[in-house]
Amino acid sequence: MAKGDEERDESPAAEAERLRSLIGEYDYAYHALDAPRVPDAEYDRLFRRLAEIEAEHPELVSATSPTQRVGARPVGEFREIRHARSMLSLDNAFHEDELAAFDKRVSERLAAAGISADIIDYVAEPKLDGAAVSLRYAEGKLEFAATRGDGTTGEDVTHNVRTIAAVPFVLRGHDVPPVLEVRGEVYMPREGFEDFNRLAAQRGEKTLVNPRNAAAGSLRQLDSEMTARRPLAIFFYGIGETRGWELPPTHAEVLDALRTFGFRVSPDWRLVSGIAGCMAYYEDIGRRRNRLPHDIDGVVYKVNRLRWQAELGAASRAPRWAIAHKFPAQEELTTVEAIEFQVGRTGALTPVARLAPVFVGGVTVSNATLHNIGELHRKDVRAGDTVIVRRAGDVIPEVVKVIEERRPAGTSIVELPDRCPVCQSEVVRPEGEAVARCAGGLICGAQRKQALRHFASRHAMDIEGLGEKLIEQLVDAGLIETPADLYSLTLDELTGLERMGDKSAANLLDALERRKSTTLARFLFALGIREVGEATAASLATSFVDLDTLRHADEEQLLEVPDVGPVVAERVRTFFQEPHNGAVIDKLLEHGIHWPRPAPARALESPFSGKTVVLTGSLSTMARAEAKAELEKRGAKVTGSVSKKTDIVVAGENPGSKLAKAQDLGIAVMTEEELVRRLEPGSP
Ligand code: IVH
Repeated sequence: MAKGDEERDESPAAEAERLRSLIGEYDYAYHALDAPRVPDAEYDRLFRRLAEIEAEHPELVSATSPTQRVGARPVGEFREIRHARSMLSLDNAFHEDELAAFDKRVSERLAAAGISADIIDYVAEPKLDGAAVSLRYAEGKLEFAATRGDGTTGEDVTHNVRTIAAVPFVLRGHDVPPVLEVRGEVYMPREGFEDFNRLAAQRGEKTLVNPRNAAAGSLRQLDSEMTARRPLAIFFYGIGETRGWELPPTHAEVLDALRTFGFRVSPDWRLVSGIAGCMAYYEDIGRRRNRLPHDIDGVVYKVNRLRWQAELGAASRAPRWAIAHKFPAQEELTTVEAIEFQVGRTGALTPVARLAPVFVGGVTVSNATLHNIGELHRKDVRAGDTVIVRRAGDVIPEVVKVIEERRPAGTSIVELPDRCPVCQSEVVRPEGEAVARCAGGLICGAQRKQALRHFASRHAMDIEGLGEKLIEQLVDAGLIETPADLYSLTLDELTGLERMGDKSAANLLDALERRKSTTLARFLFALGIREVGEATAASLATSFVDLDTLRHADEEQLLEVPDVGPVVAERVRTFFQEPHNGAVIDKLLEHGIHWPRPAPARALESPFSGKTVVLTGSLSTMARAEAKAELEKRGAKVTGSVSKKTDIVVAGENPGSKLAKAQDLGIAVMTEEELVRRLEPGSP
């Protein structure tokens, strides 16, 4: 705010009024236009100033003040409100032919009324999945908000609707209708829903089932303080009774007008032409559906001309001028036939619900993940239960919730098995971890197959032709156990497999041979070390350059790698320490897997060329990674532990046992100072 403003000689009433109007404008820009005009901090400052004035001068508080969103006292029960115009429902179409039938009915009815329209224009809107409300404004001020109820009579939820920041208390402009009823959908954006549930779960409170129930439930709170804590939003899509407003000719213009009055209208509505336009819209928004910030369960098409709408009228329940084109449901009910545990590549045991097949999210689903044992117990899913399954987009289907009332007698809680269902090894679940694992490592058939599949996959060793089916065959035939065995496969062994021709066998051998030439990053990723994805593998490869150094790296050295924290460092270290893994790696290298090594620069000029160097203790003038890189540039091999092969040990401050060992073995020891000097160009 400019200095002059603050010094303006203004009465408290005038200042409060000015602040309200400013805040109103900023609210409008933020919510209706989705284009914030000031930083949050400035908004908060104005808001606090207004609250301050109102606290000092309670007589200045009015119901339309933006400070009054929460604070109405809890209501004892909901007052009934009779809608001036009934709140209709919509007929549904699920397929294009039903949509075509609707369009035909519209044309025919219009034709009967003497209106001939070849192609009908529709406004297509997202169908929000929440709770319908009607808001009545008198002389531009919010009078009340009601739920749909039975369509004729709803419940007064004004106290709750007022808590939704996008609901204007006062309409914008000088030309607002004396009476205006607007209709819209209260909903809970997905992110808010997830945040809310995360917090509730952390606090051990009840979680919300889905955004739709969450919205409807929030409106039915008696205490608006509860509603205010729910992250609700609203979109307006139509009107009820209006007085003193000469309506524009089309619904599209009504939506535009609503926006100028200050209402939040979905930015995703479009004017489309005929069924082809409707279908294109449906498909487009269907593709974007899972990226929208809120759930939609379909789209709504509305005849654009209001005069035609009036001509078409309504049947008992729904208007004849609109139809909802639904998406396949993303949630359905089904029963759990069994709960089994699947063993993953890393040995993680995932509980999976085997379901009576059900059509949901556009496909038939018969398995749903329960993520982990903790989740299974939290949801307490049991064989025999009726459950809600959800499949949204390409996400794996999941069990949302058990319908407890439908639980048959005699069910019991599902426990974690003691033994791996695949290899009978012990199942371990470390304290405080959500995931239980089979301890069988590479002995476990499940882990073996998946480890091999991962090894061969596109971003790992990229072995063309070595897919899931073939790996199954090879493992089942006893031809391979570990990735190293792949490289001993013979043409005879391969052609002996079912459905394997000479050509494919030769191709596979060729692919294996060709991909022996790889990169260190790919190789590290291919090993399937837990927590080491592609990015971490690349980071390890860049930092260590040399596999041997990495294999012997201690935690401290690993922690110097960008992106590597204590968990990853620990996983990497234990992986390389495990003798079985070491043996497999050695064999792979023996088979000739290789990658380019960066050529040491100026190697011959440096006293470190060809030397094996160990860094120990802390260096004060450079980071250890830097020292290592500098040494490697000069042709040194920097390793993590002192052995007979070590040529030089560089000892920083507090060097510890490595220095002692070097002295024992009679290895040359260098101080940091000396190191720095010898790294200088031209030093001996
Ligand atoms: S128009 C007379 N437009 O869907 C027209 N409804 O299944 C009545 N809904 O009760 C509604 N998004 O709660 C309309 N863009 C939209 C909508 C929408 C969601 C809801 C509304 C209605 C229900 C009917």
